[in-house]
Amino acid sequence: MAAGKARDNAWCPYSHFPVGAALMADDGRIFAGCNVENASYPAGICAERVALGAAVTAGARRFTRIVIVSVAQEPTPPCGICRQALVEFAPNLEIMALSPDGNASRWSLAELLPVPFTPASLGNV
Ligand code: THU
Repeated sequence: MAAGKARDNAWCPYSHFPVGAALMADDGRIFAGCNVENASYPAGICAERVALGAAVTAGARRFTRIVIVSVAQEPTPPCGICRQALVEFAPNLEIMALSPDGNASRWSLAELLPVPFTPASLGNV
């Protein structure tokens, strides 16, 4: 599974919390990402935004679903910054999170970020 394979490559020597994400484009392509931490802690980036960056770099701009795999017992939703990054491209994204034991949670991005700041929020600027 793409998200699990990505999690195996997570660079997380500070949190010891590996995360993998697999973002599916509307043409079926899947883009994976893992969290990449840094000795300067705020420079680290989440798995979801790494996957999004890989996807946009490859020309994908519309997405249907993201799968997130961490090591927590409870499936973990994307953080607030990742919700904001994802809503730019996929306001109706389906989110599935899995725990190592196979527990699954599902949300829509609209449910997790009900009042988003979107490109339309910029008006005519
Ligand atoms: N992390 C993710 O990669 N995705 C999330 O949605 C939440 C948190 C990462 C950031 C950091 O490397 C580690 O997990 C602990 O917060």
